[in-house]
Amino acid sequence: MIVNLKPFQFCEVTIFVRLYDDAHCIGLFIMFHEINSTILVTGGAGFIGSNLIRLLLLETQATIINIDKLTYAGNLDSLKDIAENPEYKNRYKFERVDICNQLEIKQIFEKYRPQAILNLAAESHVDRSIDSPASFIETNILGVFNLLEQTRFFFNNSLNDSEKAKFRFLHVSTDEVFGSLGENGYFDENTSYKPNSPYSASKAASDHLVRAWHHTYGIPTLITNCSNNYGPYQFPEKLIPLNLFNALNNKPIRIYGNGENVRDWIYVEDHCRGILHALLKGEIGESYNIGSNNEKTNLELIKLMCAYLDQISPRDDQKPHETAIAFVTDRPGHDQRYAIDSTKACKELNWKPRETLDSGLKKTIDWYLKNSEWLERIMSGEYNGERIGIKV
Ligand SMILES: NC(=O)c1ccc[n+]([C@@H]2O[C@H](COP(=O)([O-])OP(=O)(O)OC[C@H]3O[C@@H](n4cnc5c(N)ncnc54)[C@H](O)[C@@H]3O)[C@@H](O)[C@H]2O)c1
Repeated sequence: MIVNLKPFQFCEVTIFVRLYDDAHCIGLFIMFHEINSTILVTGGAGFIGSNLIRLLLLETQATIINIDKLTYAGNLDSLKDIAENPEYKNRYKFERVDICNQLEIKQIFEKYRPQAILNLAAESHVDRSIDSPASFIETNILGVFNLLEQTRFFFNNSLNDSEKAKFRFLHVSTDEVFGSLGENGYFDENTSYKPNSPYSASKAASDHLVRAWHHTYGIPTLITNCSNNYGPYQFPEKLIPLNLFNALNNKPIRIYGNGENVRDWIYVEDHCRGILHALLKGEIGESYNIGSNNEKTNLELIKLMCAYLDQISPRDDQKPHETAIAFVTDRPGHDQRYAIDSTKACKELNWKPRETLDSGLKKTIDWYLKNSEWLERIMSGEYNGERIGIKV
């Protein structure tokens, strides 16, 4: 039940936040009240980026510019309905640009004069970073360096004082920068960085650059570090969509090592709301950990997926889906456990996840079954689910 309607200021843009009658945390419906706020989202054709753009278009009045190079992981299919919807004609634009390209990023800033940049563009798959780390160094480090430098130029030379006060650079990062946990403990914002893979090392480097560009040059930055996401539109090289595809196609359901690695799973829309809350309410220069308190081993997670599939899409031979589980060679240097303490984000950003693992997983599986052609189109292309990331 809505009990209050309270205006917030995101810079000078009025945002109305409806406070719901919820004893602990507050459900938020956020609306940018003015149409002239433009937000650049990099990596918007990827998994989290496409979900974030959808949320921004649905729940705000901002204009969204999607900047994406369209690597193997970028898929405009994920935003086809948005791009073709006349309602969003003036509020959504796509620019095929590499964040490493100095001139093109400079021109994007000049053309759109954004009020915020949400940086999600990245090489994101640990296994690929083991086989070919170079593109991770290029995009995740040099690309972020370029974005920061172009932001600095734009911020210093093109914005007046009131525009500077509104501007934000929000960098989306991962909990993997903190390394691996033992059986106990949680990552919080003061945990020291100990990245173990080329992917997490490149993300750690980018977090440090973002922090330094605030500290040294006064760029208004924010960082979010999130745990493992799941949900619609995830490229099927990752645990859930890959094994969902395998289960539905009578292939082995592949689990690395003994399946005992623990991850803290968050539904992608909850992460996206966390990003939005950080943008609206985060303190400049700060970082926020976003997680959902859903620790599961990979094996437990896959068994939950199989149990739900048994109900809604049983195998032809009537055997339980989990009989197809196969343990395969472990990932080199596989981190044992990640777990996030999101107390700061809950308290300071008024954010909390809405989905439980049960509800989020069911939504996710239902979505993939309903949108099987989205998955099929990817799997019939260059990537066909082959195992990567074991060459060391
Ligand atoms: N997936 C997760 O569980 C998770 C968790 C925490 C943080 N993150 C972070 O969130 C961000 C998005 O992750 P994701 O899972 O959506 O990744 P993704 O691989 O699905 O998407 C990445 C997108 O970035 C684009 N891209 C790559 N290089 C680019 C470049 N040089 N210039 C422009 N665009 C480029 C790709 O085309 C793709 O659309 C990443 O920064 C990742 O580190 C992901």
